[in-house]
Amino acid sequence: MKVFSTQDELKSFLQRFSTNKSVGFVPTMGALHAGHLSLIRASKADTDLTVCSIFVNPTQFNESADFENYPITIDADIELLESVSCDVLYLPNSPEDVYKNEVPFSIETGVLSEVMEGKNRLGHFDGVMRVVKLLLEIVEPDKAYFGLKDFQQYAIIKNMVDKLGMKVDVVGCPIIREESGLAMSSRNALLSNTDKKKALIIYQTLKELQNSVEVGEVSDLINKGLEQLKQYTEPEYLTIAESDTLQPVSRLEQEKKYRAFIVARIGGVRLIDNIEIFV
Ligand code: PAJ
Repeated sequence: MKVFSTQDELKSFLQRFSTNKSVGFVPTMGALHAGHLSLIRASKADTDLTVCSIFVNPTQFNESADFENYPITIDADIELLESVSCDVLYLPNSPEDVYKNEVPFSIETGVLSEVMEGKNRLGHFDGVMRVVKLLLEIVEPDKAYFGLKDFQQYAIIKNMVDKLGMKVDVVGCPIIREESGLAMSSRNALLSNTDKKKALIIYQTLKELQNSVEVGEVSDLINKGLEQLKQYTEPEYLTIAESDTLQPVSRLEQEKKYRAFIVARIGGVRLIDNIEIFV
């Protein structure tokens, strides 16, 4: 695997390589796990050259403690990337290297960035859009891969790419879970063993919702789910929203697509998960 610490070196490598070859891109913040590796595998299967980036992007953290505590495991990350034959890693030597050519922009995100993570982590998606736009401009991939674990992020990036007319196919990949059902996350490393057991309630609650929803009113089910989460966690929200618009709903209609979303804290660690709802 080739490792570049500056965008200029990466760009000149890619310019030499990419005539008539397709490039896949997987942006990450490191502390890699099987969820990230599934994105690398998807890119390897679809494209000729897979580029991963590892950059803990300061502009998307709305809590300084979260940024400061974000796990950094570069040596293990490089080994994992080598194990799935990732071709190129962009590991910027500073935030300035990523942000140096930034041109400010603004786009219409509507309700997509006003609900759930947009409402509870003010400025978060502005930071995500800033860095993803810059990374896409640096790598110029044909396809970019994002996990549906961060479904709202995926929707916001798809919308951004669309509105800016960027020529990249944004691919959403399935949520990878531990055997227990817990969605893989870099933040799981911050959980004690006891807290990891408590965290299972998140997926259990999502599965129960998936199994019990019907057309019509769902407020009671949502409240029941919240009460269940409160036994082991501090839930921030449990929302059912339309998959396309992310508009939260309390009544489900036939033939529409929905997802249920949970954010809950355990021992100060903020966990996020979601599931498709079939009605
Ligand atoms: P990070 O949290 O490192 O996640 C990188 C990518 O891996 C995201 O697309 C995320 O949805 C995906 N991912 C994480 N856990 C997953 C799982 N269990 N199953 C499937 N995919 C999973 O998301 C970010 O970084 C940043 O916001 C970033 C897009 C890199 C911008 O800074």
